Amino acid sequence: MMLNADEQSMLEGKHGKACQKAMELLLRYGEALGAERFVDTTNIAGVPASANKFLKDYYSEYYTAGRDEYDVIFSFFDLDSDELVEVPKITTNGCHLQGGIDPENWEILGATPETLRLSQASEAYAREHGVKILKTCTPYLAGNVPKHGEHCAWMESSAVVYCNSVLGARTNTEGRESTSAAMLTGKIPDFGFHRDENRFGTHLIKVEVEVSSIMDWGMLGYFTGERVLEHIPVLTGNYHNADLLRHKHFGAAAASSGGVEMYHMVGVTPEAGTLEAAFGPRRPAEVFSYGAVERRQTWDNLNANARTTEVDFVMLGCPHYSLEQIEEVVSLLDGKKVSENCRLWIFTSRLVRTMADQKGYTQAIRDAGGVLLTDTCSAIGQTIPKGTRVAALDSAKQTHYLPAFMGIEAWFGSTRDCVNAALSGRWNGARP
Ligand code: F3S
Repeated sequence: MMLNADEQSMLEGKHGKACQKAMELLLRYGEALGAERFVDTTNIAGVPASANKFLKDYYSEYYTAGRDEYDVIFSFFDLDSDELVEVPKITTNGCHLQGGIDPENWEILGATPETLRLSQASEAYAREHGVKILKTCTPYLAGNVPKHGEHCAWMESSAVVYCNSVLGARTNTEGRESTSAAMLTGKIPDFGFHRDENRFGTHLIKVEVEVSSIMDWGMLGYFTGERVLEHIPVLTGNYHNADLLRHKHFGAAAASSGGVEMYHMVGVTPEAGTLEAAFGPRRPAEVFSYGAVERRQTWDNLNANARTTEVDFVMLGCPHYSLEQIEEVVSLLDGKKVSENCRLWIFTSRLVRTMADQKGYTQAIRDAGGVLLTDTCSAIGQTIPKGTRVAALDSAKQTHYLPAFMGIEAWFGSTRDCVNAALSGRWNGARP
């Protein structure tokens, strides 16, 4: 790779040992990818220094008096360094994505005091090193909104696809190591979605049936990912109400059933003013139609393992709920009580939870017998109420993962279907 003077001096250790190790890692990474240079980035979303018991124990032989144990984890794991380095404050706008535990409601999630202690210690380390603790998969709902064209280095598939497609900012799906190294250096290899020529559409999806509700958008996203896998779909046709929430559900679904990191919607997303602009010099490799038959098939695929209509768990908030979505749930609950045979867990970010607290929504959910949780979700934390056999979900992404992770049945439907299931303990969602 060609390095500029700044990058060369980092590599030579003139900005300190940690920065040198970070640059060495990024250079190995960039060369493996075939990148020729770096781009500057100051917007990074990762999970620096996160640790569980296994990781903590794994490096125990390196812990020495007077040294921060998390410097050990950051050196050897995050930076893949062969020596222990002292980690300075980051020089970039770095934020921490979701974790595995809600620090206030950890007992509800079945966590142990030891897990809580580890999570809080790694969080304190990240905060002291200048990382913003957003603890969410929706950083764009918690104050991190990169501008059009901005080079970013983000983890989390649902956030990556939103960043590229809806905001028009540029990121590949990064990992813990590259994001931690980028937080120290402000550099990421110039490849993939950072480059104009890799952002054009590859496949065309003609939307023929009306797609309007959040559930509709989730199903369309799931269909899209199933068809195009890791390619770049361009959608045209009968979609409506293209707001933040619908994009959030569409992108998360497409990134789960396939590996979609960027999509275009003609007339909606910023790099798709016209069909021609979305495809640029490319021609569609394949064309797919999404009509009533495909919509029904998608619903059937999502509900393929659901048999039992008694529901004992309703999980909402994947990706993390916005304030408007929490408001909708409170309105659907309408002062009623969740069935005693069912649990209702709703996940969001700390920031949105604070706003929900102020509006009285957190208390309203608690009064109904549910709980508003932060930082994590059932799939990421691999946690569901004890004894759960059947869940109801309004997220195609969560429906894709949770039954497989936890060995349960899961129904997919609208938020209204799910709240009704929480109140009655039974699934009554209609097949479209
Ligand atoms: Fe977020 Fe969990 Fe879904 S981290 S995107 S709520 S799988």
